[in-house]
Amino acid sequence: MSNLTPNLGLSGAQMETAIGLLEKLLADEVVLRAKLQKYHWNVTGPQFHPLHETFEDQYTALSETVDDAAERIRQYGALAIGTLAEFLQHTRLQETPGSTPDTRGMISDIVNDHEHIIRSLRVDIATAQSEVQDIGLEDFFTGLIQTHQKMAWLLRAHLESTGL
Ligand SMILES: [Fe+2]
Repeated sequence: MSNLTPNLGLSGAQMETAIGLLEKLLADEVVLRAKLQKYHWNVTGPQFHPLHETFEDQYTALSETVDDAAERIRQYGALAIGTLAEFLQHTRLQETPGSTPDTRGMISDIVNDHEHIIRSLRVDIATAQSEVQDIGLEDFFTGLIQTHQKMAWLLRAHLESTGL
């Protein structure tokens, strides 16, 4: 084993599993970030200002998450995927090219995607525990569940408070 191969007490198969989970997560975060930016650009109407800001807050925060997920792939010794084609190939989220929802539709689309990522992370945490057996990966995923729960709640609360 060369000094450049990570020696984390994990087998090659365990690191491959971790990399596979992280590639899906990375792709999901990139797709959600792109959607948030699209809605930041295109939101209109009386809720323009708060939503323009909230969408920006969220895509800015997710840029950190994207970077952390990609760098975590590197920590298991693999190269990070980094093209739009690869992100689309790995994501579990759906894009709707050619259509832009109304304000309520934007919020519910983003909330649904946050919750989709939360549900995926729940399954991925179980895999990180049982197969990868890496507390570092579990911890990373657990923190992200909290991040996405908070973001989903903020948008839901916006829907409720404005009666959209
Ligand atoms: Fe902007």
